[in-house]
This record gives sequence, C-alpha cells and structure tokens, in this order.
Amino acid sequence: MAERSETFAYDPFGGRHPTSHERMTGLAWDASYHDGPAPWDIGRPQPAIVRLASEGRFAGAVLDAGCGTGENALHVASLGLSVLGVDVAETALAMAREKADNRGVEVDFVAADAFQLERLGRRFETVLDCGLFHTFDGDERPGYVASLASVTEHDGTLYVLCFSDDGPDTGPHPVGQEELRAAFNSGNGWNVAAIEPERIQTRFHADGAPAWLATIKRV
Ligand SMILES: C[S@@+](CC[C@H](N)C(=O)[O-])C[C@H]1O[C@@H](n2cnc3c(N)ncnc32)[C@H](O)[C@@H]1O
Repeated sequence: MAERSETFAYDPFGGRHPTSHERMTGLAWDASYHDGPAPWDIGRPQPAIVRLASEGRFAGAVLDAGCGTGENALHVASLGLSVLGVDVAETALAMAREKADNRGVEVDFVAADAFQLERLGRRFETVLDCGLFHTFDGDERPGYVASLASVTEHDGTLYVLCFSDDGPDTGPHPVGQEELRAAFNSGNGWNVAAIEPERIQTRFHADGAPAWLATIKRV
C-alpha cells in the first residue's frame, strides 16, 4: 500500500485571526514569553491595580482579560475574590498556573480570545484590562468592546489601564482619552465614569510610562 505523507502546518495563532499587533511584529503573542520576561512582565502586580484593589474596587467574579503571567489576577485573588484570567499565550498561562500553585492562590487561567469572550459562557461583575486595549487598533476596538460587553454584568465595572499619549516617555501604542471615550459609549452599552492619569510600570521605564486608568460602567 502506498504511504501517504501529510504535512500539517503549525499555526502559531491557533486558528485565530492574528491581531494588528501580531501582524505588526510578525509574531504570535506567545513568542513574547519565550526568551525571558516580556517588557511588561514586571514580576509583580501593577501598583495602580494594587491600589484599586486596596480601595475595594474589585467585587464579585473578576475577569482579567489578557492576563499574561497572572500577577494582577493573582493579587486580586489573594484578597479572596474569584478570578478568571484569560490570554491567547499558552506559555504565559502555564507560567501563571505555576505561580498560582507555588503561592497557593486559587485562580483559573484559561486560553481564550478576547474577541470571543462570550464563548466563556460566564458573566463578571468586574473586568480588568491591564495593557490589552492599547494593543488593538481602531478597527479591532469595536469587536473587542462588544466582546467585553457580552461578559460584563449590567452595572458591572471595567477597569482599563493603558498607555496614554500624555508624554514624555510614552509607551508603545499610546492612547488618547478621546479614543477611550469613543470606544466605550452609551451606544454600545458603556458609560465612562472616570479617566485618571496613572503610570504603567515596565521593564524599560525607570519610573513607569504615562497611562490612563479608565473606570467604565456597563449600562
Ligand atoms: C501587554 S501584555 C499585558 C499582560 C498582563 N495584563 C500584564 O499586565 O502583565 C498583553 C497581553 O494580552 C494578551 N493578548 C493579546 N491579544 C489577545 C487576545 N486577542 N485575546 C486574549 N489575550 C490577548 C497577550 O498575550 C499578552 O499576554
């Protein structure tokens, strides 16, 4: 019998449509986690998220969209909240699960596409986006915002911590306040309650990069 040889091409995007960031870099997000810590992976939660948590602003079931290696999710879960972290980077998720095991913190980390969050079949009272929104271009934002809306409880809260355009020393993908207000509006189920100046710590900014912390309510 003749032998049949079939070649299955490896798809680093796992069947997803590559995001604008992946098209720009030519690499799947997972590759960011292969050779040492990624620039944003500071090995501790973002101070802005720690402060939010200390003010009691996380409540109910929490979703961390684009959780990376899980520091923010782990911090919020360590305070006793139920947290699900999702990401497309399996390598980051494996690191996050290992940290959860080592620290004895209960958090679920699962692979999911932020554009298809409704597939989780769950809803959350608080959603965190730390460094994900700013990676999406204007064409991607409506789909992402609709996906977030599909899993956020009415009157739930979304926190977006993103690089701002209010320099100096801005991070990559700087976002203007007006872009946040355009992306989240009453027409698509959101009300921007506050946008405050913040910092995002990175491995290459001595004192962090200028950022916005947006508090956005699901209406
Ligand atoms: C800049 S990193 C921030 C990671 C983490 N939130 C942190 O603060 O360390 C953005 C993360 O979003 C993830 N990501 C990018 N596109 C995604 C998508 N479509 N669905 C889910 N996660 C995504 C990346 O894999 C990466 O881990």
